[in-house]
Amino acid sequence: MKTIIEPFRIKVVEPLRMTTREERATLLREAGYNVFLVKAEDVLIDLLTDSGTGAMSSLQWAGIMRGDESYAGAKSWFVLQEKIHEITGFEHILPTHQGRASERILFELVGGPGKIVPNNSHFDTTRANIEHTGAKAVDLVIEEGKHPTTRHPFKGNMDLAQLEGLIKEVSGSGGALIDHIPLVMMTITNNSGGGQPVSLENLRGVRKICDQYKLPLFLDACRFAENAWFIKQREPGRRNRGVREIVREIFDLADGATISAKKDGIVNIGGLLLMRDKELIRRADELLILTEGYLTYGGLAGRDLEAMAQGFEEVTHEDYLQYRIRSTEYLGEKLLAAGIQIVEPPGGHAIYIDAAHFCPHIPPHQFPGQALTCALYREAGIRASEIGSVMFGQGGTPPPMELVRLAIPRRVYTQSHIDYVIEAIIEIYQQRDKLRPLEITYEPPSLRHFTAQFREL
Ligand code: F0G
Repeated sequence: MKTIIEPFRIKVVEPLRMTTREERATLLREAGYNVFLVKAEDVLIDLLTDSGTGAMSSLQWAGIMRGDESYAGAKSWFVLQEKIHEITGFEHILPTHQGRASERILFELVGGPGKIVPNNSHFDTTRANIEHTGAKAVDLVIEEGKHPTTRHPFKGNMDLAQLEGLIKEVSGSGGALIDHIPLVMMTITNNSGGGQPVSLENLRGVRKICDQYKLPLFLDACRFAENAWFIKQREPGRRNRGVREIVREIFDLADGATISAKKDGIVNIGGLLLMRDKELIRRADELLILTEGYLTYGGLAGRDLEAMAQGFEEVTHEDYLQYRIRSTEYLGEKLLAAGIQIVEPPGGHAIYIDAAHFCPHIPPHQFPGQALTCALYREAGIRASEIGSVMFGQGGTPPPMELVRLAIPRRVYTQSHIDYVIEAIIEIYQQRDKLRPLEITYEPPSLRHFTAQFREL
């Protein structure tokens, strides 16, 4: 059989509240044409994020009941520690409440004014946590990764020549290199670049450069399992390798990792900070206790640790990953077939629509991506996120791409939900000249996409 089916059946359901177009038109106006300000219960299909929105399995819910809530040395902690050790090989594991908490601890330790942290592409919170310490976050993704229509199997790869160029440039400024570049980071998969994977070959290349210049390599490993699946599918000679083996190979290349368990941990809350350096671990432990919680629970409840341990196990199952990546690809293929430009090829956790191509009659300063997210909500109750001039254009310069991200929560929506999304987008596309430009009526001083309000022109 060629058809790939959901490798689960449904035991608990959560009803969706149906709404009419008229109701949604009113709700959208009341929300100032910003879907972040729409109540979740008024959304039919919520594709705002794949973070913390996944469905847990029966075994994860069983773990929730088993959770040991002891302050120190809880049984649930050892279950998690053992699972993460088994999957990643890391001995020392710090639990945190989510990815950005791991980032904050890491960069409080190694960041600071004048320092530079290279990455393929920093996610917003990683960049913000680096810049908060006075350091600079630099993106060095390969050229192919910057163009929506360019196909490349590993569009998340880092440009190795640019990395080496940057290191050489910084070496000239005197002192130990590590005092200028505390670490090199690789985000797998590359969320800001369209959920695109990084190859093992590229990771090895980065490792080699790090070894040559004695720099640590850290992963932002939120979607490590999805990345490993792409390696298995696309990298020469990897087809017969197990995902778990590939995952291990990835982590073996790293000196540390920050992980948001809200993605490939398939839990609603949780994060990890992994490190090998003993002195760094000692200082991180201190900060963890200071700001997150004791070493054996981080910012989490015992039940969260149990659910995470089981989530990390399930996410590496190949039938799950095959379904996961195929369902994202399915959405992408259907949109492309209808002439709708997306970031190609489809990524792991989301499809990114090219809104500039979708509504060429709306210039960047009138927010084509926002116009599309409004239409998606009003016409079909679908919530997506704008990744374009609203998010990145504050201050006047429009970003290189006007995108709308349809992020797919894990195990939440069925194929008919996705068929509904496809039908809705195609219908909107057929009447795209009716999409209306927007004007900002309120904007906060920073991170305006969350709370800005608009008016339709
Ligand atoms: N790194 C990457 C690559 C991410 O995608 C995210 C979150 C984080 C770090 C931060 O993790 O949210 O647990 O603090 N991405 C979400 C998204 C919010 O919608 O893409 P967190």
